[in-house]
Amino acid sequence: MHEDIEKILITEDEIKAKVSELGQKITRDYKGKNLMLLCILKGAMMFLADLSRAIELPLSMDFMAVSSYGLSTTSSGVVRIIKDLDYSIEGKDILIVEDVIDSGLTLSYLRKVLLDRKPASLGICSLLDKPKKRRVEVPVDYTGFVIDDLFVVGYGLDFAEKYRNLPYIGILKPEVYKF
Ligand code: PRP
Ligand code: MN
Ligand code: MG
Repeated sequence: MHEDIEKILITEDEIKAKVSELGQKITRDYKGKNLMLLCILKGAMMFLADLSRAIELPLSMDFMAVSSYGLSTTSSGVVRIIKDLDYSIEGKDILIVEDVIDSGLTLSYLRKVLLDRKPASLGICSLLDKPKKRRVEVPVDYTGFVIDDLFVVGYGLDFAEKYRNLPYIGILKPEVYKF
């Protein structure tokens, strides 16, 4: 285990099992549709890579980079689009793939922006959900794990851009981010 991690919250095996379960559900629900996975960089990249391989359907993928946290541990509430989509989403069944929903600010902003572009449908799939931190409601269609308000890293999730490569989701030791 990484020396900055206090405890593993979700193991690599638990993530694998959940991703496969979500992949099967999405496969059933999106059969015959024009599915496009929309990965929200950077946090969702691991989840996108694994989830997309658990979906047994033809699909396309695109990427958006937004940032609300920057280098801090709490959301600033200001969402910036750093990289937009490459193509139009008109008529496509878009499934947003996120690593975590916290305040909900990132997704509620993105939903507004994307709905204006007239997709056939717009769904949300998030590996983690922290409902206690919610400041605005967002309709989540697929959730991996509901967790408490803990600062977690790994499997795409960072603190100051570090720890994204950990294969599990762990709780950071307080001394690493409190000074
Ligand atoms: C994190 C996380 C979600 C968002 C959730 O991204 O990956 O995208 O914040 O927070 P919210 O529900 O309070 O808006 P971050 O802005 O840290 O960028 P990153 O994915 O590049 O780490
Ligand atoms: Mn993110
Ligand atoms: Mg981040």
